[in-house]
Amino acid sequence: MGEHLKRISSYLEHQVKARTRHGVHSPFVYDLITHVLRQEADIPEFAEIEALREDLLESDQTITVNDLGAGSRVFQRPTRAVSEITRTALKPAGQARLLYRLARYFQADQVLELGTSFGITTLYLAMGAEEGTVHTIEGCPQTQRIAQHQFDQIGTKNIHAVLGGFRSKLPEVLRQMGSVDLAFIDGHHALEPTLEYFESILPYAHPGTVFVFDDIHWSRGMEQAWATIKDDPRVTVTVDLFDLGLAFLRTGQAKEHFTLRY
Ligand SMILES: C[S@@+](CC[C@H](N)C(=O)[O-])C[C@H]1O[C@@H](n2cnc3c(N)ncnc32)[C@H](O)[C@@H]1O
Repeated sequence: MGEHLKRISSYLEHQVKARTRHGVHSPFVYDLITHVLRQEADIPEFAEIEALREDLLESDQTITVNDLGAGSRVFQRPTRAVSEITRTALKPAGQARLLYRLARYFQADQVLELGTSFGITTLYLAMGAEEGTVHTIEGCPQTQRIAQHQFDQIGTKNIHAVLGGFRSKLPEVLRQMGSVDLAFIDGHHALEPTLEYFESILPYAHPGTVFVFDDIHWSRGMEQAWATIKDDPRVTVTVDLFDLGLAFLRTGQAKEHFTLRY
């Protein structure tokens, strides 16, 4: 089966398996659904960030992309339109708002993002962790310059933006962070790198840490990475939202995997 068909079949499987809040007996996950997944707070700051996304969508700028990740299914050449990247590579507003709510609900102080791109999700995370800091790593200099421009436009002060490859920059960033409350892995969507980053972050994680993996059904490699993370004995609860996978290390909790529609 081709990757595209595989993704459609994974999506259908997800729809069949997915439970609503009423089929969930775990109080932790029930509360997560009620207070995070289903809670649609709208605050004026969201509109400010979305206005930046609009500007990016309307931009006629092109940039030369230095792709250190698994590559794109949309782009084959290094010169890419900012508007196209914005349309295809960024988390849509709904998922970005979910990241904001996750950071807030878990009172995340030290947030790590792998894959800044133009900084749109970074801004949501920074708002969710307003008392803390979001450390975000991006390997492409021209992409990161645009992200920095977005941060300056909003005037966000709690973002530590790092330019460089995940592999080379992650150890130093983790040392600076000391501990990780929320990690959003949104770049280099392939089996080994995803597991490698997960392993690197784990020593800095604690029972309250939330791992958010993007595109867990994007490819066979990502399906395998997600299956390995679910099986990991240190992971107790996982939530498969199809586009995003959440993994928790909570102690005193029976191991359980949830597939949810939200
Ligand atoms: C999907 S985009 C991130 C989107 C962003 N989080 C959002 O939703 O607004 C992934 C980004 O990760 C960067 N990236 C991928 N692999 C990388 C690596 N190994 N090191 C550094 N950056 C990488 C890419 O350049 C790209 O900009």
